[in-house]
Amino acid sequence: MGEAFPDDWIASLARTVVVGARRDRDLAAVGAGGDASIWSAAAERNMANTDPGGGEGDTHFGFATLPLADKQGRVDDVFHKVARRYDLMNDLMSGGLHRAWKDVLAARAAGPRRAARRHLDLAGGTGDVAFRIAEAAPGTHVTVLDINADMLAVGRERAGKRGLADRVTFVEGNAEDLPFEAASFDGATIAFGIRNVPRIARALSETHRVLRRGARFQCLEFSSVDVPGLDRLYDAFSFSAIPAIGKAVAGDGEPYRYLVESIRKFPQPEDFARMVAAAGFSRASFERLSGGIVALHSGWKL
Ligand SMILES: C[S@@+](CC[C@H](N)C(=O)[O-])C[C@H]1O[C@@H](n2cnc3c(N)ncnc32)[C@H](O)[C@@H]1O
Repeated sequence: MGEAFPDDWIASLARTVVVGARRDRDLAAVGAGGDASIWSAAAERNMANTDPGGGEGDTHFGFATLPLADKQGRVDDVFHKVARRYDLMNDLMSGGLHRAWKDVLAARAAGPRRAARRHLDLAGGTGDVAFRIAEAAPGTHVTVLDINADMLAVGRERAGKRGLADRVTFVEGNAEDLPFEAASFDGATIAFGIRNVPRIARALSETHRVLRRGARFQCLEFSSVDVPGLDRLYDAFSFSAIPAIGKAVAGDGEPYRYLVESIRKFPQPEDFARMVAAAGFSRASFERLSGGIVALHSGWKL
């Protein structure tokens, strides 16, 4: 499928909203020190209800509870179902805002234009973030890793149409167990992917492993709206409109209900920043965009 809407007008409208919104720059530097692992364990338990004794317990799938071992299969079903409509639905569900958020992420993740760099985009799906980075930095080769072959197939088609097939590689794999050597990338990103990964701490520590020293990890994820009034509007839109749009456009509202519910179950940005620190990243911090609808996290491998 081609692009859902003309890139230029929808992106410029979305950019106006992102830039115009209150941007909370109280970067919550949490450091990688002692209590980070305690916070991380608490956040991971909150996220996964894992057995503190080390066994794998239950986790959530949206608002439902299920054995941790079953979550990935359920997540994969969702993305198999939505792959062909994924880009169109992203535009409809976010009013095009996802483009502006990804522009911010890519602008920060792209290195100097001509530098020969290797970048990893985790849970990169249909390639949205990878294409932005590859276009901003022609010297960079981007590897998109995703567990879902259907999402990757759409991404490969799009890369071909954009003339990026030789600069963006698509790899099927699990973020919890990356098929790459240690220190093989100069930067890593993940956009709207980490909340779908069952064992988040494992994915973070794998990301840390495959980055070289001096590299930066950045994560874009939905967060909680912190503007009075906007929160209720956002809830109404999320729980009523989004599944309805999913049913009308993609013929099934259920996958979209999961996407909305999973946002509510994701740790608060302070807790997630502590998980990033606990994985070994230095200067873990985050920034809220668009009134807290999303948070952009950052950590360095130093
Ligand atoms: C909401 S989509 C985000 C896609 C893309 N990053 C974007 O922003 O458009 C979430 C992606 O996470 C992928 N995913 C879920 N679990 C994963 C895992 N364990 N390892 C790698 N990718 C995973 C899904 O297949 C899906 O493509």
